[in-house]
Amino acid sequence: MAEQHSERYVKVRLNSLYIKEPIPFDLYVLINNKQIHYLRAGDTLSKDKLQRFEDKAPDSFFVRLEDRPAFKKYVHEKLNSQQLNPIEKAVMLRESSLTLVEELFENPTIDEALKESKEMVEQFVDLMVTEPDAMADLVGLSSHDFYTYTHSLDVGIYSLGLANVMGYNRELLVEMGQGALFHDIGKRQVSVDIICKMGPLNDLEWAQMQRHPEYGLAILLEHDVSEGIKACCFEHHESMAGNGYPQQLQAKEIHPMAKIVALSDTFDALTTQRSYNKPMKPSAALEFMRTKLAGRFDTDLLRAMYEVLFRMEDQLKKSV
Ligand SMILES: [Fe+2]
Ligand SMILES: [Fe+2]
Repeated sequence: MAEQHSERYVKVRLNSLYIKEPIPFDLYVLINNKQIHYLRAGDTLSKDKLQRFEDKAPDSFFVRLEDRPAFKKYVHEKLNSQQLNPIEKAVMLRESSLTLVEELFENPTIDEALKESKEMVEQFVDLMVTEPDAMADLVGLSSHDFYTYTHSLDVGIYSLGLANVMGYNRELLVEMGQGALFHDIGKRQVSVDIICKMGPLNDLEWAQMQRHPEYGLAILLEHDVSEGIKACCFEHHESMAGNGYPQQLQAKEIHPMAKIVALSDTFDALTTQRSYNKPMKPSAALEFMRTKLAGRFDTDLLRAMYEVLFRMEDQLKKSV
């Protein structure tokens, strides 16, 4: 049989590598649609080498698909080592997760995505428990951009922070994180033109967009997922005031995890840069939700969100 040349690669972001040490797998860069070998396993990714790269250091590399387990093991070891400080761990976890979340929305089968996301959320939960400071850093690292995958990751991080303040145990935290990551999975079924439209949607587009909880539920129903995860997807646009969508549920009918996602989701939307609105500062966004959107969110959760964010601000002050 002829040799296969169609090797598959997975993206690895620069910030998910610890460049002070040799990298234990080969790295490639994408140039003119071709994967070019960039670093041999065991070599160090020195600042010099990065700088020499066409005057501009690449922000992403690729590893061969077969090296993916080695990359995952590498991240796992770094997160559990004493070498990295909390902020370095937070950056590494966030950056390595972003590539995964990007994939969840683009290609793989949902079963694979669910399995991968569980391992990923477990890493977040472990970090949150072992390094409370790193979790605060994670909250502070939100990229505030509007792509579905960064949005999903940020909603995941806020939701874990909230659930932690609310006293969820490890098992529930993992379920919470997965539910939050998949809350907008139904957007896979909404036309890309609508998702990426710069500016307000017209009525037809809006009607289509509002169906994403339903589309998401249909996707999840084909897989073995918990009620909590399904609820995060189907109920995250419900409102405590009973006027949300798609079911206009009453407050007590909304799943507690969906209430958490609803709050995280709106908070992320308000603090995110879009072409047609300026992002709000976290404190202004919370104030807006408390007053202008009064009645929509669980008030205990709103209070808890202050706790999640104030931790973050304390942390930022410490790092300045
Ligand atoms: Fe949504
Ligand atoms: Fe969302």
